[in-house]
Amino acid sequence: MNRFEDKSVVVTGAASGFGVAIAKKFAEEGASVLLADINLEGAEKVAAEIPGSVAIKVDVSDEEDNKAMVQAAVDNFGKIDVMCCNAGGPHRGAYMTRMEVEDFDRMWAINVRSIFLATKYCVEHMPPGSSIISTASIAGKRPRKGLTPYNASKGAVITLTKGMALELAPNIRANCVCPVSAPTGFDMTSTGKAELSEDMEKMVIDGIPLGRRATPEDVADAYAFLASDEAKFLTGVALDIDGGRSI
Ligand SMILES: NC(=O)c1ccc[n+]([C@@H]2O[C@H](COP(=O)([O-])OP(=O)(O)OC[C@H]3O[C@@H](n4cnc5c(N)ncnc54)[C@H](O)[C@@H]3O)[C@@H](O)[C@H]2O)c1
Repeated sequence: MNRFEDKSVVVTGAASGFGVAIAKKFAEEGASVLLADINLEGAEKVAAEIPGSVAIKVDVSDEEDNKAMVQAAVDNFGKIDVMCCNAGGPHRGAYMTRMEVEDFDRMWAINVRSIFLATKYCVEHMPPGSSIISTASIAGKRPRKGLTPYNASKGAVITLTKGMALELAPNIRANCVCPVSAPTGFDMTSTGKAELSEDMEKMVIDGIPLGRRATPEDVADAYAFLASDEAKFLTGVALDIDGGRSI
């Protein structure tokens, strides 16, 4: 399929995990891709594998960085057809009573403020039929104990998406995806480790009817679907990529 020929796509959090798969998926289907990440070296490595793509250092929580990200997409590709607000902050230390106030504020800035900022500055460069897609989490619908501020930030992403869908219709659609646990560089635990222990992994998989965790490609496929014409009547959707966990 070549659903994104002549389309311009911006992906945040593009140096690792879901963002890499999302960027590659859109590029494989013909899009020009801007890879934005706070980790420029990582984004540049991914860009080296995607002909015609551009990497840029962006802290998604920062207003000036968001303006620069949008400008870079416009300078390189002339417009933005798909804005992928994928970068997200960690679970680490996310027990309510153990979390420092500044870590709480930082998480909200990365997970929620970022989408407000990207949207605020990109819409004027989006032609009719464009879409904004964000990575929420199944944690935003079905919270797990010990991740309360993270759960709440992802719940906010879902509500933000629905509000954006109302405000940006009919020209721009806004949707989000809600993945279940996936092995990425993401800090899954309260211990600061990205990988789950064997026991933890078993517990997570036991709660997923389809019997496995999500993959970055599962998430990238959902992004591509939501951005495509096949989803032209979908807006305000929070699509579960969870193998049935939230049933
Ligand atoms: N992996 C999971 O189990 C899972 C499940 C549900 C939702 N999510 C969400 O998926 C999204 C992507 O996470 P991932 O699993 O691919 O993790 P990851 O750690 O592999 O990738 C996240 C990327 O975001 C970048 N990033 C972090 N803070 C940033 C900032 N302030 N500005 C710019 N870039 C920043 C990191 O450098 C990294 O490249 C996040 O929003 C996360 O909350 C992850």
